[in-house]
Amino acid sequence: MLYPLSILALVLLALIHTTHGNGDGQISATPHSSDAIPYETRVYWMRRAISALAELDSPCPFAAFGSVVVNHTDTSDPKGKLVCMGVNQAAHVGNPTLHGEMATIENCSKVLTDLDGLYRLSPSEALKAYSQLSLYTTAEPCPMCASAIRWSGFAECIYGTSIETLINRGFGQISIPSQEVFAESTKLPGETVLIADVLANETDPYFSWQFNHSYPCPKGCERGSRDKFCKLQVTDHEL
Ligand SMILES: *[C@@H]1O[C@H](CO)[C@@H](O)[C@H](O)[C@H]1NC(C)=O
Ligand SMILES: *[C@@H]1O[C@H](CO)[C@@H](O)[C@H](O)[C@H]1NC(C)=O
Ligand SMILES: *[C@@H]1O[C@H](CO)[C@@H](O)[C@H](O)[C@H]1NC(C)=O
Ligand SMILES: *[C@@H]1O[C@H](CO)[C@@H](O)[C@H](O)[C@H]1NC(C)=O
Ligand SMILES: [Zn+2]
Repeated sequence: MLYPLSILALVLLALIHTTHGNGDGQISATPHSSDAIPYETRVYWMRRAISALAELDSPCPFAAFGSVVVNHTDTSDPKGKLVCMGVNQAAHVGNPTLHGEMATIENCSKVLTDLDGLYRLSPSEALKAYSQLSLYTTAEPCPMCASAIRWSGFAECIYGTSIETLINRGFGQISIPSQEVFAESTKLPGETVLIADVLANETDPYFSWQFNHSYPCPKGCERGSRDKFCKLQVTDHEL
């Protein structure tokens, strides 16, 4: 049964690709795309991934990689249901692999299997749960994270800023697009739909100030006088 199904999926993907490719070969959601989920809903969750930064770290972390995981098959709320979230933890805990998406997956497994939590899934149920979940992330997953997303079996991965933009802004990155990692992952079970360039106009500024001292800091932050990094704004009465 898997065989005809995967052919169908490939044909569908090819169709989406040719009708909505944005020129550089990425599948992209635009306000005019025929995505079953309204673009406003995509925008809502991408803004939630941005606000996860402030909630779990700072409104202007140097590594502004934040993610939220949403259940879109749960129709009790037409927007979908937030399951878990996470932000880049590498510099906070000294673990270079804890990129935003990796930290998020780690947290999601904790949330899903928490015996006092909402889900109380067994480990094997938690593994299966990912196939109904969508991961929204402020920037295109690096090859490590893209691989982890495919190993998790997420239904969808939606990102804002591209790896290309990160590199242009001065971030060190491995130049392998998520799309390429996904394309090489067809031997893994399941399929993850990749949706690029969602609200990049709002995620890009979070990655644009780090290596450009003329670029304005994100809202709520200001340049430090010594190291020139953006940091939480200190109001007068707090001084
Ligand atoms: C997602 O929603 C579906 C449909 O309501 C439900 O069966 C499933 O358990 C949900 N998964 C999680 C992790 O909440
Ligand atoms: C894990 O996700 C939950 C649910 O979204 C959130 O309340 C919590 O702060 C997250 N924990 C970490 C460490 O990110
Ligand atoms: C970013 O673009 C979206 C449309 O894709 C628009 O709705 C939103 O207002 C824009 N954000 C800003 C800050 O201009
Ligand atoms: C730095 O940011 C300023 C302000 O947005 C912009 O005008 C300039 O082009 C940027 N410089 C580079 C090298 O991107
Ligand atoms: Zn990564």
